[in-house]
Amino acid sequence: MTEKELCATAKKAMQMSYSPYSSCKVGAALLTKSGRVYTGCNIENASFTPTVCAERTAIFKAVSEGEKEFSMIAVAGGKDGKIESPFVPCGVCRQVMSEFCTSGFKILVVKKEEEYDTYTLADLLPSAFTSNNI
Ligand code: THU
Repeated sequence: MTEKELCATAKKAMQMSYSPYSSCKVGAALLTKSGRVYTGCNIENASFTPTVCAERTAIFKAVSEGEKEFSMIAVAGGKDGKIESPFVPCGVCRQVMSEFCTSGFKILVVKKEEEYDTYTLADLLPSAFTSNNI
């Protein structure tokens, strides 16, 4: 699975977004070290707080099926499903990534239909709080 293919899978996952409150459709595609891909979408709630982001949906799906080793994730999102600017993972998703991924974990953020930015987890969450701190 190439980076471009993973981004295309994230874009496709936007279609499943349940986002009646923000109208922001977000999709994620998580590549495991074993070569499997888990997709996720954001799932909103009338009470707002229970809303879960696309990235966490994908990670929790994977972990719940026994996968805990990941090499990269692609994220795509946009108001009304139109990708016009990057949807960079929120702080909570970065923290969840840091539970399972090393600092070199790649995060691809789609910014236009055919373009994406590449980050590492260390770029987005320097000085992470981890199990080493407990
Ligand atoms: N959202 C994600 O799914 N991922 C992100 O990286 C940022 C935000 C969702 C949560 C909410 O449903 C909507 O986007 C607006 O914040």
